[in-house]
Amino acid sequence: MSTLVVYFSFTGSTKFVAEKIAETIGADITELKTSKNYPTEGFRKYFWGGKSVIFGDEPKLINDPIDLNKYETIIIGTPIWAGSFTPPIKSFISQNKIQGKRIALFASHAGGGAQKCFTKLKKELSGNEFLCEIDFVEPKKSLEENLSKAVSWAKGLAI
Ligand SMILES: Cc1cc2nc3c(=O)[nH]c(=O)nc-3n(C[C@H](O)[C@H](O)[C@H](O)COP(=O)(O)O)c2cc1C
Repeated sequence: MSTLVVYFSFTGSTKFVAEKIAETIGADITELKTSKNYPTEGFRKYFWGGKSVIFGDEPKLINDPIDLNKYETIIIGTPIWAGSFTPPIKSFISQNKIQGKRIALFASHAGGGAQKCFTKLKKELSGNEFLCEIDFVEPKKSLEENLSKAVSWAKGLAI
């Protein structure tokens, strides 16, 4: 049985961590993509992103369906938006019956909301076994430090 790293990344920070984790443990990796793009600039970016979290949006994903039967462990990564996980992750969870898996979580953020985000994610993913979680503060700003943090965490997963 193998491991899947599945993540959403809006500005590349979560992607950077996700790729390092997958490379370290030789996991498959999938980046969630939406059919509609969120605005990427200034106030509109925070407004639309925050609003979509608050309203519980489940944006349409354009990824091919993923056969989760192949995976015993799923590592889920998200940026934190408005103290929660991002809408594409909500879509992924809704679209897949994720039960009886080993789950590890990671998040990228600007300084706050990680525990709240993990608590919400675990609630959405009840019926699974949780291995551990880790958060990164703007990982692209201290590249080397966060790369080694991602590598040690991934090695410690003992998959
Ligand atoms: C709509 C929106 C809401 C955000 N809300 C939070 C938040 O509640 N707490 C926080 O620490 N950072 C927040 N951020 C910052 C991002 O979590 C942070 O920049 C993260 O590293 C981005 O990851 P990415 O590059 O993979 O998209 C928010 C960013 C956006 C665009």
